[in-house]
Amino acid sequence: MKPPYNWPGSKGAPGMAQAIVSQIPPHQFYLSPFAGFDSVAQSIRPAERRLFIDLHPDPVEYWNTQPNAKAYQRDAIQYLTAAAWSTWSPGKPPHAPFIFIDPPFHPETCDAPYTHTLTADQHKELLAIVAPMKAPAIICGYRCKDYDRALKRWRAVNLEYQSRRGRRVETIWLNYPPPAKLHDPRYIGRNKRERERRRRRERTVINTLTRLPPLERQAMLDKIYEAFPPQ
Ligand SMILES: C[S@@+](CC[C@H](N)C(=O)[O-])C[C@H]1O[C@@H](n2cnc3c(N)ncnc32)[C@H](O)[C@@H]1O
Repeated sequence: MKPPYNWPGSKGAPGMAQAIVSQIPPHQFYLSPFAGFDSVAQSIRPAERRLFIDLHPDPVEYWNTQPNAKAYQRDAIQYLTAAAWSTWSPGKPPHAPFIFIDPPFHPETCDAPYTHTLTADQHKELLAIVAPMKAPAIICGYRCKDYDRALKRWRAVNLEYQSRRGRRVETIWLNYPPPAKLHDPRYIGRNKRERERRRRRERTVINTLTRLPPLERQAMLDKIYEAFPPQ
C-alpha cells in the first residue's frame, strides 16, 4: 500500500520532514501518536521498533505493512495517558525512545481539514500530558497562546515552508538541547546544495583514507577517535 500523496497536515512540504529529521537524536523506539502517513517516519532511517497511533483506519492499515512497525486505531490522548509516558524516565522501558507528536491544528490557528480533529480543550489535555514528558519528544503546530504557555521550557524551532496559501511558518517544540548526534545524518545542511557539498567532503575524506596503507589508515582512525570520541 502506498501512502496518499496529500494527507492533510502532512510534513511532506519540500525540505520540511528532512529539517525535522535533522533534529532527531539516536533512538531505538519511535512513537508517533497522531501518525497520519508520518512524513518524518517515511524520511528517517526506521528505528528498531516503531509504534503508530491514529483514529483513521487508512494510516493504521498502511503502517501495519511497514518494517519494524505496529499501528493501532486508538485515541492518542488516551494512549499517552494509559501508557504513562509522563512518568517515563531513563532506565525505564522502552529503551531509547523518541516521540514525534504531530496533532491536528489547534482551532485558533487554522481550520483542521481532518476527519478527526481536536478541540481547544483536547489540545490543553494533550499539552498537560506532553509538557512534563522526560522522553525526548517533538511536538508540531502553529504558535498560539496555549502552546507557547504550556511549552515555555521547550526549545522552539520555526520551519518555513511553501503552502498552497503562500509562505507559512510552522513551529516544532523540542524538550531536549540540540543533539550532538543524529539518528539519521543524511539531511544535515540547510538545503540541497549544502547537503551535496557535505557529501563531497565525506567522499574526499573516505577516498583519502582508502588510499592509505592499512596500518597507516588504522593509526589515522585511532587518532581521529582519540580527538573526537564517539558519542
Ligand atoms: C497533522 S496530522 C498528521 C500528519 C502526519 N504527521 C504527516 O506527516 O502526514 C494529524 C493526524 O492525527 C489524527 N488524529 C486526530 N485526532 C486523533 C486522536 N484523538 N487520536 C489519534 N489520532 C488522531 C488524524 O487522523 C491525522 O491523521
